[in-house]
Amino acid sequence: MTFLGIVKSRRSIRRYKPGPVPRELVEKCLEAARYSPSACNTQCFRFIIAEKAMKDRLASECLGEIPVPNRWVAQAPVIAVLAVRKNIVTHAVGGNIKGTRYDLLDAGIAGEHFVLQAAELGLGTCWLGWFRKGRVRKLLGIPGNWDIAAMITLGYADEEPGEIARNPMDVIREYRE
Ligand SMILES: Cc1cc2nc3c(=O)[nH]c(=O)nc-3n(C[C@H](O)[C@H](O)[C@H](O)COP(=O)(O)O)c2cc1C
Repeated sequence: MTFLGIVKSRRSIRRYKPGPVPRELVEKCLEAARYSPSACNTQCFRFIIAEKAMKDRLASECLGEIPVPNRWVAQAPVIAVLAVRKNIVTHAVGGNIKGTRYDLLDAGIAGEHFVLQAAELGLGTCWLGWFRKGRVRKLLGIPGNWDIAAMITLGYADEEPGEIARNPMDVIREYRE
């Protein structure tokens, strides 16, 4: 498949088959994330891969919050927790001057590399931005100088989401004119 084909085939998957994801496939997703660009090449993100009992605890103890309870996560065989270091000098200084969260940009790019590699391998994913951050931190022992940018579910899809509208191309054309 072409790169654009992979991009277009990727959808947020919220129903998963029960089987595990082979370790080498998870490692390929991590490898794709390792090669993502980052501001000042700080590479300030890390993925924590939770499966089995730890995944179950994340799903049961760290989700369920209104208005996005994300209860479907319980079926996903893998959760990748995406952590970013907060106290990097270049990010803090540059971020204050420019008003930009470089750490979150870096994490977002790395996460999307992970997600698109998963799509190429025939795996489904869904970004999670609504979870009990304090509980995830405690459960995984993530230190205070690291933020938890997002979590990403991973597994074999058990649904085919319908089409959704995308931004029109004329947004880009207007910019060019
Ligand atoms: C940063 C971020 C956070 C998200 N958080 C959630 C979430 O907590 N729960 C959920 O079901 N989907 C979540 N999503 C998935 C979006 O709802 C989804 O990407 C969007 O509706 C477009 O659908 P698509 O991914 O199938 O193209 C999140 C996506 C992003 C990028």
